[in-house]
This record gives sequence, C-alpha cells and structure tokens, in this order.
Amino acid sequence: MVTCVSIALLIVLSCVCIHQSEAQLQVGFYATSCATAEVIVKDEVQKGFAKDKGVAAGLVRMHFHDCFVRGCDGSVLIDSTPSNTAEKDSPANNPSLRGFEVIDNAKARLETLCPGKVSCADMVAFAARDSIELTGGLGYDVPAGRRDGRVSLASEASANLPPPSFNVDQLTQSFAKKGLTQEEMVTLSGAHTIGRAHCTSFSNRLYSFNATNSQDPSLDPLYADQLKKQCPQGSTDPTLVVPMDPATPTVTDVGYYRAVLANKGLFTSDQTLLTDTVTASQVNQNTLNPASWKSKFAAAMVKMGQIGALTGSDGEIRINCRKIN
Ligand code: HEM
Ligand SMILES: *[C@@H]1O[C@H](CO)[C@@H](O)[C@H](O)[C@H]1NC(C)=O
Repeated sequence: MVTCVSIALLIVLSCVCIHQSEAQLQVGFYATSCATAEVIVKDEVQKGFAKDKGVAAGLVRMHFHDCFVRGCDGSVLIDSTPSNTAEKDSPANNPSLRGFEVIDNAKARLETLCPGKVSCADMVAFAARDSIELTGGLGYDVPAGRRDGRVSLASEASANLPPPSFNVDQLTQSFAKKGLTQEEMVTLSGAHTIGRAHCTSFSNRLYSFNATNSQDPSLDPLYADQLKKQCPQGSTDPTLVVPMDPATPTVTDVGYYRAVLANKGLFTSDQTLLTDTVTASQVNQNTLNPASWKSKFAAAMVKMGQIGALTGSDGEIRINCRKIN
C-alpha cells in the first residue's frame, strides 16, 4: 500500500517536473482565443518589409536576442524607465536592433481584436518566421503559448549575447548554455545571410587587429580594402553600415556560407567557423546543399524559440509590448 502510494506520488512528481523543464508550446495555440493572431502579425511584417526590406533581418535578430536573454519572453521589447536600463538599451541592441514598430503595430491591432490574449513573445517568434519566409527561407510552424516576462536588464543582454569577437569555442559554449548544439550554432549563424552590420561591429579587423597585424590576416585582403572604403578609419559616424552578404543581402540563401568559405565573413565570429575542422565541414556542406540548410535552419529556429519560455500562469500577456502591465 505504502509502496503503491509512493510510486503514484513519484509518477505525479516526475510528470510535474517534465512539465516544468519542457515549455509546453503548441502549434495553433491561438486557434480559439484569437484566430487571426498569426495573420495579423504576418500582415504587419509584410507592410514593414514593403517599406524597408531590412526589417526582416531586424526581426530575425530580435527573436535571437529575445531568446538568449531570460528566454523567449519578449523582454527585448521592454522600454527603459528612469529606474531601469532595459535589454534594448544594452550596446548589443542599441542602436542596431530594429523592427520594433512592426511588433507595436501588430500588437495595437491584436489588442483591439482580442484584448489580452496574444503575448509579445509569441509575436516576435511569428514575425521572425514570417521574415525568413518573406526573404526566401523555408516557412515553419511556430509552437506558441509563450507568456511575457516582467524583467528586462541591459546587463543580462551583455552577459548572454555572444559578441562578434568570439572564436568558435566561445560560440559553441555560448550556445551550449542555451541548450543548442555546435551544429545548431553553425546553422543559425546562417541568419547573417540577410541584413547589415555597423562598421563599429568589425572595424577592429580592418584597423586595430593585434600587435603584429593591424588587419586581420584571415580576412580576404581585397574585401578588406572594399570594407575600408565603406568604413573609413576614425570615422565618427555611428550610422555607417554594410551588408553582411553583399551579393544577396535580402535573401535567405547560403550566400553567408559562401562568403565565409571565401574568407569574406564579416565578423571574427563568422570567419572562425573555418578554424575548426567540424564546423568548417558544416560550412562547406551548407554551401553544397542549400535545401538541407534551409530545413535545418527552420528546425533550429523552432528549437531556439523554446528557450526558457514562460507558460501557464507564469509571466503575463503584456497589453503594450514596451511596458510591463
Ligand atoms: C553566432 C553568434 C552571433 C554573433 C556573434 C552575432 C553578432 C551579430 C552582430 C555584431 C550583428 C551586427 C549588428 C550591427 O552592427 O548592426 C549581427 C547582425 C545580425 N544577426 Fe547576428 N550574431 C550571432 C548569431 C545570430 C543568430 C543565431 C541569428 C538569428 C538566428 C542572428 C541574426 C542576425 C541578423 C538577421 C542580423 C542583421 C540585423 C539587421 O540587419 O538589422 N545572428 N549579428
Ligand atoms: C596576431 O594575429 C595573428 C593571426 O591571427 C597571429 O598569428 C599572431 O600571433 C597575433 N599576434 C599577437 C601579438 O597576438
């Protein structure tokens, strides 16, 4: 009898534990509570993209930066207040992160249609998927039901987001801390096939690499010359940007991996993928099999989208994505 009760208790407890460790996200989460949720987000992403194709890159990066800091809880969207510097004002996000207005516009419409139902965190996940699809990547179902966090700290963005100076071991560790494999790190780095970078994110590779080399010897010298024209030394203009995959900057293709293979990866964190035989071989395979990369990328985005998700009665559904309720 006692054994039966304790076995039953054990089963109940282990079920509870499984529930807590695995975010219970579901495809079609809003089917009954707000059937148009995903359609409205997609419509706003399309509108933003029509005005500025760079918005798609911004939204893909926004989901990454949300998920790596306190999980995918919409914390990246919260505005700073007089007493708190939020994630979006960390140097990793300000001034480079973009696309916030797309989320704001979609949220305004959804609050009219189905007030208090759709989380900002889910909207970012949908918008990232729509952006991949709009730029020619593979669409995928987004498991939803994330709830919004109430905390956003700039210091946590700096502590959790990998900087462009990282080498392959540091990148592997940074992703492992979030439950992602080294191969998923290589796969997700392919997001750098769309969008742009500020000169300040890589100018050390052009002008102040190390004591023996002012220019990073792993960077193609002709490409470096071109980048130096676009990013003049000592320029104080913080708005200067260059495309990360100059051949096709608005298309989700394997151009990023081709660039890395040609020693034209923009960041140390891109070029470093060639310094390890395993990751170098994955870079090469991705250039040879774009369809396989696209499906690996979609799967890795789904996995990234589950990191630390709040579900059930945790967190809240923010009314305004910029403010906790
Ligand atoms: C592997 C580690 C990564 C590092 C070190 C890194 C670093 C960076 C940096 C420094 C920028 C340029 C920001 C700027 O100067 O404007 C950037 C842009 C971008 N990143 Fe990453 N990133 C990484 C992984 C990812 C992942 C996993 C994704 C998404 C799945 C992603 C998506 C993007 C996109 C789309 C842009 C272009 C943004 C725009 O045009 O507004 N990155 N990244
Ligand atoms: C500078 O970088 C090059 C290439 O990575 C390396 O071989 C060299 O040892 C570095 N020099 C110093 C002083 O760190």
